[in-house]
Amino acid sequence: MKKNILCIGAGYVGGPTMAVMADRCPECRIRVADLNAARIRAWQSGEPPIYEPGLKEIVARTLNRNLFFTADADAAIEEAEIIFVSVNTPTKTFGEGAGRAADLQYWEKTARQIKAHARTPKIVVEKSTVPVRTAEAMEYILNAGGGVRFEVLSNPEFLAEGTAIEDLLHPDRVLIGGRDTPEGRAAVAELVELYAHWVPRERILTAGVWSSELSKLAANAFLAQRISSINALSAICETTGADVAEVARAVGMDSRIGPRFLKAGVGFGGSCFKKDLLNLVYLCESNGLPEAAHYWRQVVEMNEYQRRRFVRGMLAHMFNTVVDKRIAVFGFAFKADTGDTRESPAIHICRQLAEERAKLVVHDPKALENARIDLADLGDAVRYEPDPYRAAEGAHAIALLTDWALYRELDYRRIYEAMVKPACIFDGRNALDHGALFEIGFNVYAIGKPPRAH
Ligand code: NAD
Ligand code: UDX
Repeated sequence: MKKNILCIGAGYVGGPTMAVMADRCPECRIRVADLNAARIRAWQSGEPPIYEPGLKEIVARTLNRNLFFTADADAAIEEAEIIFVSVNTPTKTFGEGAGRAADLQYWEKTARQIKAHARTPKIVVEKSTVPVRTAEAMEYILNAGGGVRFEVLSNPEFLAEGTAIEDLLHPDRVLIGGRDTPEGRAAVAELVELYAHWVPRERILTAGVWSSELSKLAANAFLAQRISSINALSAICETTGADVAEVARAVGMDSRIGPRFLKAGVGFGGSCFKKDLLNLVYLCESNGLPEAAHYWRQVVEMNEYQRRRFVRGMLAHMFNTVVDKRIAVFGFAFKADTGDTRESPAIHICRQLAEERAKLVVHDPKALENARIDLADLGDAVRYEPDPYRAAEGAHAIALLTDWALYRELDYRRIYEAMVKPACIFDGRNALDHGALFEIGFNVYAIGKPPRAH
């Protein structure tokens, strides 16, 4: 084996990223370590602990060939020349910066662990999303007290869940930030060579470490801002009779704006957007830029407003009460093609509906187990149903919260027959054929569109 690589953190980023790297770099021996022994056992079994289209096949090709999973990072550190760190960096929930700043305790513990077990120089690659200048702090910790020399690079990950494998195989760009010193440039060149196994060189960008760290926060902030912008417009559409899909189409055809990420809905979820926006807000605040902080905070607030507005709309169209009414929730994952429910809008919407004393029946093809955990404290107010037809039986309304393709293919005539009348559909993702549903007999309420009620 030409190179030994270790990745610490076998989650949504570490697992898929290293599986693709092992597939494309057969001469590298890649180990992925995690504290979570159950997660490691799942990876080792060939049944990945996360659902991601195409992942299982890649793992099947590489597992125990040049891809290995271990619960013992300590033992793997010394052998590796390059160590990727993709541990979680959630929003801090305590102390200074609580609710905004990134909690870097896992990152720092990992740095200290690397320092404790390394006997030869290493390149340490920051794959987790971190605040600007984290690499500097980590390099300081790693190199404190002399001894082995560490070079820290920033290499943020841009994959989106549900399309992770495709994103990793054909990235828009790979970004590598390093220091402008002979050692820094050599480390960057080594990482460039690794990615050049499968990524065209013109798509591998190099930059300063701080620019690289900030670019990751900036890209997520821009994407989230587009969603909040179209969602803000969806509210105006509903009051003026315009159709948000028509508006998005017209706006998106301007080549300066582009058509993607202009889909109005119940708001963005996922483990990244809110966390990274708040991280940016905190960065602005702590650098004495309150106006810039306020600007980005508003993107998060618009997202929360959109969820509340959706539930308020449901109440308004259901005679201002949902007490004891059964509501079928179609989709719980934060987006289609993943079982991940972190920060899913469905969590907040279900909680709000439960507060209104509705009886919820949740369906999701991949996220029911996570839904059960997320809503555990709601007890009997929620039922979890693996069959969408049974979920809708006896319901007054369906709330579609995740745009899984399967919801477009259901037999809505059959569903309508089994529901209480008037039967309502609230399409929180504008995913369904509203004309056809109205014809069947449903009252149809979609985001940013005129209501269709009988
Ligand atoms: P995750 O929670 O799925 O995985 C992180 C893993 O790190 C966990 O399994 C945890 O047990 C492990 N871990 C923590 N400390 C450890 C230690 N000292 N030793 C060994 N293992 C340790 O998180 P994720 O979604 O993979 O995200 C990881 C990072 O990547 C975050 O900074 C996130 O912001 C960033 N990111 C995530 C995505 C995404 O789509 N999920 C995309 C781009 C970037
Ligand atoms: C995001 C970034 O896209 C990715 O580059 C980064 O590495 C991690 O964060 P992810 O959160 O996995 O990826 O999924 P994404 O496709 O960005 O969707 C995020 C949320 O926005 C989902 O809840 C999705 O439903 C919502 N969304 C997306 C919209 O509401 N409208 C859109 O037009 C696009």
